[in-house]
Amino acid sequence: MLKKIFVANWKMNGSLKIFDEYLLQIQKEYNYKNTELIIAPPFPYINYVKNLIDTKIISLAGQTAVSFNDGARTGDVNCRMLSDVGCNYVILGHSECRVNHNFDNIDAAKTVLSALNNNLNIIFCVGEEKSGLGADEIIVEQVVSALEGVDKSFSSRITIAYEPVWAIGTGLIPETEQILDKRNLIFATLYNLGFIDTKIIYGGSVNVQNMKLIMEGAKINGFIVGKACMDSDNVKKMLEIMEYAENIS
Ligand code: PGA
Repeated sequence: MLKKIFVANWKMNGSLKIFDEYLLQIQKEYNYKNTELIIAPPFPYINYVKNLIDTKIISLAGQTAVSFNDGARTGDVNCRMLSDVGCNYVILGHSECRVNHNFDNIDAAKTVLSALNNNLNIIFCVGEEKSGLGADEIIVEQVVSALEGVDKSFSSRITIAYEPVWAIGTGLIPETEQILDKRNLIFATLYNLGFIDTKIIYGGSVNVQNMKLIMEGAKINGFIVGKACMDSDNVKKMLEIMEYAENIS
């Protein structure tokens, strides 16, 4: 069985004090063998978080990166830097970065290659802005452009996160059958490109209440969680659910 993954996307939240308490609680009696926990703190806290975690049980992710080598780019962070400070993952293509940092499908392809060259695994986010017509085309285009020029041998180092933009942070969530439908579309797209070991996860208003149904009904390999990941009790409850959910993928 493939190991499931749980990405805790902290977005622009947290403080030294908050991470102290959070990581203490999460690592207390930590016993989740079927799920890899990946924490994505804001950049200034990456090193601090790294020093507080047991890297055998928790992985670190950067929330975004640019594809460029070192140089005159005020405010940017590249994949080499994330790798240098101990990240083993990077989230790319998140809808908030597509909007706030103008990250487009062309940047996606370049940054995926740069991340792989710097030994980072990738959580690549795709998803339609509004539910309904045209969603499938948008998703397929995002997946195909992200993998442009990427060798199939990297397939296990890439995870596609299906995150409908309209579900992120809104409390709205697609029906489980709709998530399954999009998961199948992504799976078929990956299969046609020869990416057979690429995992597919779901993100967008995931919480303790809705997680089990999605996990069992939508054949996904895990979750990317924003709002609900910032409470250590919630995270432990969700890891517990993932540990015992019937994983049919
Ligand atoms: P949310 O965010 O869980 O708060 O909807 C998910 C994400 O943006 O990755």
